[in-house]
Amino acid sequence: MARVSLLLASFVSLAVASPAFKTFIAQETIPSAPEGFANLGPAAADAVINLRMALPSKDAAGLHAALLDVSDPKSANYGKHLSKDEIHSVFFLAPTADAVSTVQDSWLSSKGLVGKVSAGTGDWLSVSVNVSTANELLSAKYETFQHIEPGKTYNRAPSYSLPSEVASLIDHIHPTVVFNSPLSLGPVLSAPGLVADATPSSCATTITPACLQSLYNIPKTKVTAAAGNSIAVAGFIDQYANSADLKSFLTKFRTDMSSSTTFTLQTLDGGSNPQSASQAGVEADLDVQYTIGVATGVPVSFVSVGDNWQDGDLEGFLDIVNFLSDEDDIPPVMTTSYGENESDMTKTLAFKLCDAYAAFGARGVSAIFTSGDGGVSGAQSVSCSKYKPTFPSGCPFLTSVGSVHGISPETASTFSSGGFSNYWGIPDYQADAAAAFLTAQGTKNSGLFNASGRGFPDVAAQGENVQIVSGGTTGGVDGTSCAAPIFASVIALINNDLIASGQSPLGFLNPWLYANADALNDVTAGSNPGCSKSGFAAVSGWDPVTGLGTPDYNKLRAAAGL
Ligand SMILES: *[C@@H]1O[C@H](CO)[C@@H](O)[C@H](O)[C@H]1NC(C)=O
Ligand SMILES: *[C@@H]1O[C@H](CO)[C@@H](O)[C@H](O)[C@H]1NC(C)=O
Ligand SMILES: *[C@@H]1O[C@H](CO)[C@@H](O)[C@H](O)[C@H]1NC(C)=O
Repeated sequence: MARVSLLLASFVSLAVASPAFKTFIAQETIPSAPEGFANLGPAAADAVINLRMALPSKDAAGLHAALLDVSDPKSANYGKHLSKDEIHSVFFLAPTADAVSTVQDSWLSSKGLVGKVSAGTGDWLSVSVNVSTANELLSAKYETFQHIEPGKTYNRAPSYSLPSEVASLIDHIHPTVVFNSPLSLGPVLSAPGLVADATPSSCATTITPACLQSLYNIPKTKVTAAAGNSIAVAGFIDQYANSADLKSFLTKFRTDMSSSTTFTLQTLDGGSNPQSASQAGVEADLDVQYTIGVATGVPVSFVSVGDNWQDGDLEGFLDIVNFLSDEDDIPPVMTTSYGENESDMTKTLAFKLCDAYAAFGARGVSAIFTSGDGGVSGAQSVSCSKYKPTFPSGCPFLTSVGSVHGISPETASTFSSGGFSNYWGIPDYQADAAAAFLTAQGTKNSGLFNASGRGFPDVAAQGENVQIVSGGTTGGVDGTSCAAPIFASVIALINNDLIASGQSPLGFLNPWLYANADALNDVTAGSNPGCSKSGFAAVSGWDPVTGLGTPDYNKLRAAAGL
């Protein structure tokens, strides 16, 4: 009894000493769960949710300006990348002192909670609570939703509020109103069409590393890895990169290379990389085979992000950025073949992730992403009334890669996602290229897309019937998933020479790419239909199907001053 009253007394004094946190202000809300999710009713009160709170950064606009200052070849500071501390601790992305003190030291601590500060950027606080505490903290009603396809369940709050004292000090809380997970853009191993000795005619229908070397002038000779040079390959959703598959791939397709060349493994969020043939992931195998097998001699790290959280996969997208940003020797290239529909993200969350990519660029990292496999209908082919841009390709601080097939001429893949963002406007580096496209297009597609949005993709590479080995089987895969690691490899090879000659790696590529459009092979055939419409056409100059075109290693190298 005595203990109980003591406890009560201390609660009372706490409540008096701290601010009230009693008046709630409505934050984000969605009218209903996205298509495909069934509401199973209130979430179990004792289910655990790891709430991620995005704190406002000191100066995100300053970061964008600093990024362009080091990435625009015309700038005096071109290549003078910033340090981790400059970006994260001192200015730019570091959270405002106000946010930390009020959110952490007053609000959470008044509830007996301690938020964990994110590694790297430091602008996220996470706190694990049960549903009943989360409901109380956010004046919300968490419900359980089941996605019809994989049958996976998610706890989400269709609306949430924050106490008035912290409302302006938190940009977004996840998981609340954002449902979707970053899905693999889904390559499937198709019937074997194996051609080991590439010839011009076989490369028209079947892509191997030898085809890419000949098409894009990519050197075969193994480079000596320059200090700090590497490619980070992102792995999500239990996609495992199989070493035996890599060895068979190199034995078949790179007879001139040591078949024991392999990758290093980095893991976070409980990630792993089991090696049984049945667990080999087509996406992961593709990504390591078309980096190690194309960027000959450049070290590759497979970063396996586990699913050590309760409510979806989006956290992995954020965590990999924070994980890599925390490294002092950040890899100069990161390639990611996963994405989702832009409309499935709230602007608040999308902007926060995009700023993290901006920070990558300012550090000197080229963040390379696939554009998606649904043509103009988004991440995957679906019915739609307006064209659907994909995330994160709409973010103007990364490089988005579309897909082509064939060799004379290279032709846009019909599935190559492309279009214009509804969240981000046209960046300066793209203004002329986008205006030229829009003028030439005239009224075609009008009303179906946002003509003032950032256009994507930026570039393209081969993405059909690309030969891989997965689970012991050799076969072809299709998807922009093929194109991203190929483009990343070309950049990593150029970086190797830059670093070896004492220069900075290329970092954020777009201002340099758009200023050197002639260094890419312009693709002027094909289109990306979707939404029962004809989509955009690949035309002379930049277009939202194949971007500026496919890489020419020699010309890009020259553009880099080598
Ligand atoms: C939720 O967590 C709080 C704080 O730890 C605890 O007091 C409460 O009993 C928990 N509720 C449920 C339903 O698990
Ligand atoms: C994109 O949105 C559609 C519904 O509009 C959905 O069916 C599809 O699963 C989404 N794709 C991804 C990758 O989120
Ligand atoms: C179109 O894009 C602009 C620029 O990003 C944005 O401000 C606007 O809200 C978008 N319009 C729609 C209807 O999404």
